[in-house]
Amino acid sequence: MAYCAYNPILTFVCCVCLIGVAKSYVSIPLKIYPGKYNVSSAMRLSVTRLVALAADGKGLSLASDPSGQVNFMDMVGNLQGDSGRGYYMEMMIGTPGQQLNILVDTGSSNFAVAAASHPFITRYFNTTLSSSFRSDGQSVAVRYTQGNWMGELGVDLISIPNGPNGTISVNIATILSSEGFFLRGINWQGILGLAYPMLARPDSSVEPFFNSVVRQLGLPDVFSLQMCGTGMSASTVVDPPGGSLIMGGAEPTLYRGSIWYTPIVEEWYYQVEVLKLEVGEQNLDLDCSEYNMDKAIVDSGTTLLRLPVNVFNAVVDAITRSSLIQEFSSGFWDGTKLACWVRGETPWRFFPKLSIYLRDTNTSKSFRITILPQLYIQPITDLDGTLDCYRFGLSSSTTGLVIGATVMEGFYVVFDRAQRRLGFALSNCAVSGGVALSEIDGPFSSADVASDCSGRALKEPLLWVISYTLMAVCAIILIILLLLLVLPCRRRDYSGEINDQSSLVRHRIK
Ligand SMILES: *[C@@H]1O[C@H](CO)[C@@H](O)[C@H](O)[C@H]1NC(C)=O
Ligand SMILES: *[C@@H]1O[C@H](CO)[C@@H](O)[C@H](O)[C@H]1NC(C)=O
Repeated sequence: MAYCAYNPILTFVCCVCLIGVAKSYVSIPLKIYPGKYNVSSAMRLSVTRLVALAADGKGLSLASDPSGQVNFMDMVGNLQGDSGRGYYMEMMIGTPGQQLNILVDTGSSNFAVAAASHPFITRYFNTTLSSSFRSDGQSVAVRYTQGNWMGELGVDLISIPNGPNGTISVNIATILSSEGFFLRGINWQGILGLAYPMLARPDSSVEPFFNSVVRQLGLPDVFSLQMCGTGMSASTVVDPPGGSLIMGGAEPTLYRGSIWYTPIVEEWYYQVEVLKLEVGEQNLDLDCSEYNMDKAIVDSGTTLLRLPVNVFNAVVDAITRSSLIQEFSSGFWDGTKLACWVRGETPWRFFPKLSIYLRDTNTSKSFRITILPQLYIQPITDLDGTLDCYRFGLSSSTTGLVIGATVMEGFYVVFDRAQRRLGFALSNCAVSGGVALSEIDGPFSSADVASDCSGRALKEPLLWVISYTLMAVCAIILIILLLLLVLPCRRRDYSGEINDQSSLVRHRIK
């Protein structure tokens, strides 16, 4: 979860107001909006909401779980929230069960809940009131892109009211202190890291939540996510639209068409391989390794589509060129300003579609997922009743490409861990006024791109050992060379290598 994307709306204190159509174009002086925004009653969201409910109400296409023990329909609609504040699920923790809301995060691997009060949360897990809680006294800390927490490891029983039947014994990190982790306005008190053991803290021996679910309930090792907050990001709506976390498989009523699969490159984050990017059907034409520098991941805990700096700049250039708007403030692109239009003047027709090509499981092919501007030019609620304001749903990243909620909201995403692949299908709730906000096309030949764009960095423990050994050898050689008063070995590239290593350390722990 890249928390830096979770900026509260309060950060958007400025507003660049751009009114008008293509060429006639008037700018309005900057306005400052302190405090909370009022939310309009006529939310565009109700449309997507209805679609989700309709899918729910059909109730025809039932369990696709082969063992028949799980009814996926019972899990439909089990998420609340939006991309701005995250999607969360209700859980009962301890004995007797204490009800908490838990953020769903495919970009980390610890299950952690607040176990002490904090100004921004209304409830926390009181371990002394749970007869089944066992602390193991070991301390644990996790750092995210934004925010961090510290606490203690323990084990307790949990159940999920809108999840698979059964009580599961899971590792729980109890959050005793945190910084920048719980934010104002959130309605969750814990985080459910759904990624692989390799990211678990303090080490991979702490079995992640979903591994425990699969092992103890015998579910297939698959979960799928539908996030339905399209158009609502960063709002302050009271009743968030939500989505679904289906554990054990994929629920057919939540998507349309077929599921396209891309291999999971490495099992730590859900790392995928991006082959190409298009802006308005124009290929960005960067070297494909740039898109995966230093990794490309699918992360429900990240709000925006985050792109490596070079890629981000190229995309902004391409959008600027193809959008009909001429003098866009740079503050809009870097996320410090909103763009506002007079009420009713939706800006989406000024912007191009964005496409991401992913390697197909048949590696000589690819498919592309496309989002319409409705997904990445995101309404922020009306500020003064006469303007509709929007933020840019992309940001630049120094920790790789992150397919966050901005993109995931267009798709039903299947995390097929059993077959080491991620599936994308058109989400039933990514529809507005009868128009689909996302597209999937394929197959395309991947003959024009390198056979490996993922730029697999040194991640394996063995390689770490090797690289540190090499560094030690270099240090020894350096000392010897210095002693012999020969030319220093500074000019060799060893120092660069060390820098790469240290940056990898930072990026592994978000
Ligand atoms: C849980 O069990 C009840 C009763 O057997 C059943 O009706 C329900 O569909 C089950 N829920 C799930 C998610 O499988
Ligand atoms: C992959 O696709 C190519 C091109 O369509 C085809 O020739 C090949 O048989 C496919 N490979 C597999 C393993 O399906």
